[in-house]
Amino acid sequence: MVKWTDEERKVINNIFSNLDYDDIGPKALRRCLVVYPWTQRHFSSFGDLSSPAAIMKNAKVAAHGVKVLHGLDRALKNMDNIKATYTELSILHSEKLHVDPDNFRVLADCLTITIAAKMGDSFTAATQAIFQKFLCVVVSALGRQYH
Ligand code: HEM
Repeated sequence: MVKWTDEERKVINNIFSNLDYDDIGPKALRRCLVVYPWTQRHFSSFGDLSSPAAIMKNAKVAAHGVKVLHGLDRALKNMDNIKATYTELSILHSEKLHVDPDNFRVLADCLTITIAAKMGDSFTAATQAIFQKFLCVVVSALGRQYH
């Protein structure tokens, strides 16, 4: 089981309590779709993704970005049991959506960049290291039901 120090819990809770889900969620997913265009194939039902500009103004992408970010609340509320918390979502992404698990890390990196841009100097290297640990545990949990 992953262990968390009081400091790590404090930093992670602090990031999420100051997070504007409606701003950061869409920005992170848009970045993922623009920078890693192969991820677009899963969102063909979302309408026009033909250019960065189209992705920026796509309302379905924005709404899904918020949903994905709220997906991380589950980890936040179950810090000591993240793996089991994501069983269902891992099965969904593997068996139904057929998302390559490498893409979890790609989206996690886009989220880190988006949060770094928002937090500026307060997103220190030490803060990033803790946030990275949190995302690594989530990414690993999401990839757990792949066979
Ligand atoms: C759906 C979370 C990464 C593709 C979802 C849902 C959540 C979620 C909460 C909604 C599930 C439901 O409706 O029951 C996450 C988290 C991720 C992640 C926390 C990583 C940090 C990805 C990636 C892709 C992806 C990398 C593809 C490149 C999808 C698709 C759906 C979905 C296609 C269904 C969308 C729809 O048709 O409504 N995800 N996801 N997800 N996810 Fe993910």
